[in-house]
Amino acid sequence: MTVPPPIIAPSILAADFSRLAEEVRAVEDAADWLHVDVMDNHFVPNLTIGLPVVQSLRAATKLPFDVHLMITDPHRWAPGYADAGAYNVTFHAEACDDPVALARDLRAAGARAGLAIDRDTPIEPYLDLLPSFDTLLVMTIKAGFGGQRFLPQLLDKVRAARRHVNAGHLELRIEVDGGIAADTIEQAAAAGADAFVAGTAVYGADDPAEAVRRLRGLAERAAAGA
Ligand code: DX5
Ligand code: ZN
Repeated sequence: MTVPPPIIAPSILAADFSRLAEEVRAVEDAADWLHVDVMDNHFVPNLTIGLPVVQSLRAATKLPFDVHLMITDPHRWAPGYADAGAYNVTFHAEACDDPVALARDLRAAGARAGLAIDRDTPIEPYLDLLPSFDTLLVMTIKAGFGGQRFLPQLLDKVRAARRHVNAGHLELRIEVDGGIAADTIEQAAAAGADAFVAGTAVYGADDPAEAVRRLRGLAERAAAGA
C-alpha cells in the first residue's frame, strides 16, 4: 500500500478546558494537526465548543486546526470555521444532503474539506464522492464522546476507502477517530489510515508530546509493514 507519512491529531476534547491554550502548546512541537470536536447537542447528545473558542484558540497556536463538526445543518455553520482559519473542516455525511456542494463551499472559503462517516453508516455510497474531498474521517466509535472503546470491525471501512483511494490515485487523507491509542493505532495504520485522532491517549498521558511521538512511531512502523 502507498501511504504518506502519518498525521497525528490530538483531540482537545480530552484536554483541560480551563487551560486550553497551554494544553495546545504542550503538543505544538509534536503534533501535525489539532483536532477540535464541535458538538451541538442535536446531531450528538453531547455539547462542546463552537466558533468563538476556535477563533480565540486560532491566535494561540501555529498548529493547523482539524475541525470535526458533529452538528446538524453543517451548510449553515461549516464555512464560518473555514473563515476562522481552520485548515480542514469535516462534517458528517449523515447530517448533510449535498456533501459535494458543501465541500465546494469549504474549499472556496480556503479550507480543506472533510467527510465523516459515523459508526452505523456504510462507506460504499460515499466512495464516488471522495474526489471532492481532502479528508475522509472514519469513526472507530459512535461519534459523541471521548474515551470510548475502539471498534476494530469499523476498520473494514478504512480498508475499502484505502483500496478506492489508491486505485483512483486520489489525494485524500484517511483519518480514524475514536479509541486510537498505543494498542490500537497499528491495526488502523495497517488497514490504510494515514491520519490519527487521539484524545485520551494524548491528554490522559503524563507527557502529551511524548504520547504523540510514540503514536507516530507505531503508525509509521505499521504502515511500512502493511
Ligand atoms: C468523539 C470525538 C473524538 C474524541 C476521541 O466523538 O470525535 O475526536 O475526542 O476521543 P478518544 O481518543 O478518547 O477516543
Ligand atoms: Zn473527533
